[in-house]
Amino acid sequence: MLRDKAALKAWRKALGTGARLGFVPTMGALHAGHVSLMELARERADVVIASIFVNPLQFGPNEDLSRYPRPIEADIEKLEAAGVDALFLPSVEDMYPPGASTFVDEAMVSLPLCGAERPGHFRGVATVVLKLFNLVQPDVALFGQKDAQQCAVIERMVRDLDVPVEIVRGPIVREADGLALSSRNVYLSPEDRAAAPFLYESLAAVADAYRAGETDPEKLASIGRSVLAGSERIALQYWEVRDPQSLGAIAKVGARGALLAVAAHLGTTRLIDNLPIGPE
Ligand code: PAJ
Repeated sequence: MLRDKAALKAWRKALGTGARLGFVPTMGALHAGHVSLMELARERADVVIASIFVNPLQFGPNEDLSRYPRPIEADIEKLEAAGVDALFLPSVEDMYPPGASTFVDEAMVSLPLCGAERPGHFRGVATVVLKLFNLVQPDVALFGQKDAQQCAVIERMVRDLDVPVEIVRGPIVREADGLALSSRNVYLSPEDRAAAPFLYESLAAVADAYRAGETDPEKLASIGRSVLAGSERIALQYWEVRDPQSLGAIAKVGARGALLAVAAHLGTTRLIDNLPIGPE
């Protein structure tokens, strides 16, 4: 276990350049979605390192930073079972020296959807991910499609700033009833947990409508919104049909396909989900 930047740097130096290094950054509270990324990393690299760092910079003032789950012992067991070779577990003080004043601002993909609901969130994500890339120096880094906008922001940052890391997206891991696994699902009351699969149902209903021939983004989105209108426990934030890379608005779902994206509050818990659609 590498508990600070100095330990990580020494480990990285000893590894050298001979082995292909795969990296899975996380905030811990690991579940099967995270583990699927570790397994994908094993397929894509010779050596796999994960990080657990609950990054204060990506939490808003009224968000769940202080109550974010931190089951570190269980996490370490899961990483060992997944065959991860090293864990980087830095402290906030080590990652952010006093007076840290440099940030990564991706200024387009970050703006809509979750960016509009959570100002500063993707600035915090991009900044910590670039720092982690600089420290770990991986050949390949793996991110979950669950956070599709996060993937798009990081892909754009890597392209725009010539960061020498290959980015691979792993598919969304879901519960049997369709709910996307999330560290935040533990906050859901039994009633909200029962309502939560409607998010995926709304995505699946819209994918069906697309396959049946509907390509108008507004008509598709309104089908998704109407599925959720039936549940009084779900307070919708957005339900949108967007370009899969830029996340900007589109006139119709064409050859590039589209991302169906939804965010909602169930009680005090904010959940997101998405589904890419496109020509077969
Ligand atoms: P965290 O929420 O811990 O997620 C770590 C990685 O696991 C992310 O790439 C996320 O997309 C992926 N993931 C989460 N749920 C998943 C699921 N159900 N199926 C597949 N993959 C899933 O995302 C973050 O941490 C942070 O923003 C981070 C990138 C570590 C920067 O702080």
